[in-house]
Amino acid sequence: MELSIEKCTKKDAPCVAKIEKECFSKPFKEEDIISYLKSPIWHFLVAKCEGEVVGYVSFTIIIDECQIVNVATSQGYRKMGVGKSLIKELLSYAKKSGVSKVYLEVRESNLPAISLYKKYGFEIVGVSKNHYSQPTENALLMNLEI
Ligand SMILES: CC(C)(COP(=O)(O)OP(=O)(O)OC[C@H]1O[C@@H](n2cnc3c(N)ncnc32)[C@H](O)[C@@H]1OP(=O)(O)O)[C@@H](O)C(=O)NCCC(=O)NCCS
Repeated sequence: MELSIEKCTKKDAPCVAKIEKECFSKPFKEEDIISYLKSPIWHFLVAKCEGEVVGYVSFTIIIDECQIVNVATSQGYRKMGVGKSLIKELLSYAKKSGVSKVYLEVRESNLPAISLYKKYGFEIVGVSKNHYSQPTENALLMNLEI
């Protein structure tokens, strides 16, 4: 599968919102994404296959720390390497931006995501009890020094 990883533009926002809705119980709406795109702190990368947005990663960078907010792949394109391509590109982008630590929170039951992060060297450094709602669940805190 030919994938390209690009910076998200306003034109991509409806597709990112559609994937958000497919994947998360409290999704970002299209207008949220458009406003985050204007922020100097927020970053979105999209994965495209034949021009179609099939996945994205959103993250913030503040000085030398990067927080991964969400990574998601459209249902029909999972387990084809989209998530790995997005994380790889994010890490390279973060490094070039002067980041030394990348961190994130993930639902304790989300084994695909935890496995994806571990593949890139992220380590579990803590647990935040009942962090998530809808449904209530602990978050694992994961860190990577780059
Ligand atoms: C997590 C997610 C982004 C992975 O995306 P993907 O494009 O399917 O990932 P890839 O094909 O690049 O797979 C990368 C690695 O993730 C892990 N993985 C992916 N799907 C998995 C599954 N169903 N079970 C276990 N591990 C899985 C594997 O380690 C895999 O590496 P491998 O192919 O070398 O075995 C995707 O499952 C998703 O969109 N989930 C819903 C949204 C979500 O929960 N995001 C995380 C929020 S923190």
